[in-house]
Amino acid sequence: MATQTEGRVYARIAGTGSYLPEKVLTNDDLAQFVETSDEWIRERTGIRQRHIAADGQTTSDLAYEAALRALEAAGIEGRDLDAVIVGTTTPDLVFPSVACLLQHRLGANGCAAFDVNAACSGFVYALGVGEKFIRGGAKNVLVVGAETLTRMVDWSDRATCVLFGDGAGAVVLRPDAETGVLSTHLHADGGHKELLWNPVGVSAGFRPEEKNAGVRILMSGSDVFKVAVKTLDSVVEETLEHHGIDRRELDWLIPHQANLRIIQATAKRLEMPMDRVIVTVDRHGNTSAGSVPLALDEAVRSGRVQRGQLVLLEAFGGGFTWGSALLRY
Ligand code: COA
Repeated sequence: MATQTEGRVYARIAGTGSYLPEKVLTNDDLAQFVETSDEWIRERTGIRQRHIAADGQTTSDLAYEAALRALEAAGIEGRDLDAVIVGTTTPDLVFPSVACLLQHRLGANGCAAFDVNAACSGFVYALGVGEKFIRGGAKNVLVVGAETLTRMVDWSDRATCVLFGDGAGAVVLRPDAETGVLSTHLHADGGHKELLWNPVGVSAGFRPEEKNAGVRILMSGSDVFKVAVKTLDSVVEETLEHHGIDRRELDWLIPHQANLRIIQATAKRLEMPMDRVIVTVDRHGNTSAGSVPLALDEAVRSGRVQRGQLVLLEAFGGGFTWGSALLRY
């Protein structure tokens, strides 16, 4: 689905924030308990370390810290919010949603609050929804991507446990007559769900035939890699074509941080030098829905992304889901 803001009102990112748990797990730490090495992980993924939520620290705790920073940057209070939207696939509970827990802690009682589950594309999806709230008349919308994916990692599976980390990022959207989110392009294909999934739920429950089934991520890494590169290529192309813009007009690419090689493939397609691509995967690992807003916040706070610049966000995740958001920051 594609949507474009047409000469009415844009959802402008008024403030960004992010949060990473204190505990850091390096590749060498991982090699202590699973058969892997720093060299293998860095070469195949670009990851050097990841952050891990402390015992008892939940997704809503991470979301709260990121949200406070975004609200402060936007100069508003929780009570000013009209909607709280959280992209997550690792909620504290089945319900209430992370958004409801967060809304209460922020003192935003009474406003709309709900989660969006699009796995690693969760933030881009949530941004697409938040943008529509602004176009519909909302004044302040909080959009968060927050995950504790390491809670569902099988620490004995070296093919997956080296990839993921925990973290959260947030933005405050406000209406603006001139600048903001220019379009979002959101897609999904549920046809290959078993290439990347966690087959535990409520109504489907365990797959009894699946040995050792439990709360854990199952993935066919090389298949996922190929689909990710292909779909990200197509959504980036679709976005540029939709706006009739040349790839050279883009100032920044802020990609989902799953694997440095996937990021480099997209950058190559865009003919973009890596110094115009925001990379955090080396330090954060794959924080799923947290990854894009974490990278955006880092880029904004370090002064790299400046007001008026053209920024392309993209993400790919389980489902499969994928999408982009083009913004004039
Ligand atoms: N350490 C050491 N060896 C490892 C390993 C690890 N952590 N993980 C896998 N291996 C081994 C495999 O067992 C395999 O050994 P074999 O040849 O003896 O069978 C070998 O490395 C190659 O495995 P393969 O899966 O083909 O490697 P790869 O180059 O595809 O890299 C991924 C694996 C997971 C890093 C890569 O496929 C990937 O990043 N895929 C995308 C995953 C992703 O982004 N998922 C989230 C999407 S949002």
